Amino acid sequence: MFLALRHLEIGYDDIGTGPAVLLVHGFPLNRQMWQPQLGAFVGRCRMIAPDLRGFGGSRGTGPYGMDVYADDLAAFIDALELPRVVVVGLSMGGYIALAFWRRHRARVRGLVLADTRAGADDDDARERRRGLQRMAREEGVAAVADTLLRGLVGKSTRETHPEIVNAVRALMLAAPADGVVGGLEAMITRPDSAPTLATIDVPTLVIVGDEDVVTPAAEARTMHAAIPGSRLEILAGAGHMSNYERPAAFNHVLAEFVGRLEYA
Ligand code: MLT
Repeated sequence: MFLALRHLEIGYDDIGTGPAVLLVHGFPLNRQMWQPQLGAFVGRCRMIAPDLRGFGGSRGTGPYGMDVYADDLAAFIDALELPRVVVVGLSMGGYIALAFWRRHRARVRGLVLADTRAGADDDDARERRRGLQRMAREEGVAAVADTLLRGLVGKSTRETHPEIVNAVRALMLAAPADGVVGGLEAMITRPDSAPTLATIDVPTLVIVGDEDVVTPAAEARTMHAAIPGSRLEILAGAGHMSNYERPAAFNHVLAEFVGRLEYA
């Protein structure tokens, strides 16, 4: 499906009925990374997965930033006439979810922060991302995908499910170079969200794969400790793409979390 917003065209999936759940994808991916969740909640939730500006089926140019992505999502749920949603963000999607909380908190019914971190990049991380921007421009997105792939998928999945590794690589190859460079810019310039955590007063679930090397479990524990009343779930045998690598476990904890919101 497509929806035209101001200077943007958003590609998205919208499946099921019930409490609205907004799925925000990571970098350099697109909404197809939520395939294991989209069909699994029919009859329980309305799962809505948009492509961020510059990725997948969405069109639109810069500027890129976490606030820009967050405002795009607010305009998107306005267009769908959804007053409040559960925001689920994985990795860069989590950085965006935290920006969305700062800018549009009245629209947030609950938060799920998966395989992400609150802190900003340090100088080394910024330098690495500058290198990836040059790589995307000079060598193309495939070179970036091959550099990132090992970090995105956990050791167990790499050893036992090569088809998942190949699928994640294919998702990355679909990213346009401009969107990749823009996503990297958004991550380089993102602020420290650590002070935001104590302000979160909606039900929050923190999820992480125990083999995540990009945003390790220690980051999830730090967020969990700082977000009042939050819950932490560590998924065994999953890496950074925990929703894609261990979909049954991920869906189980997500379903339980959303189910409890009905009574919150
Ligand atoms: C992501 O999965 O969105 C990225 O790996 C996040 C990051 O590089 O910080």
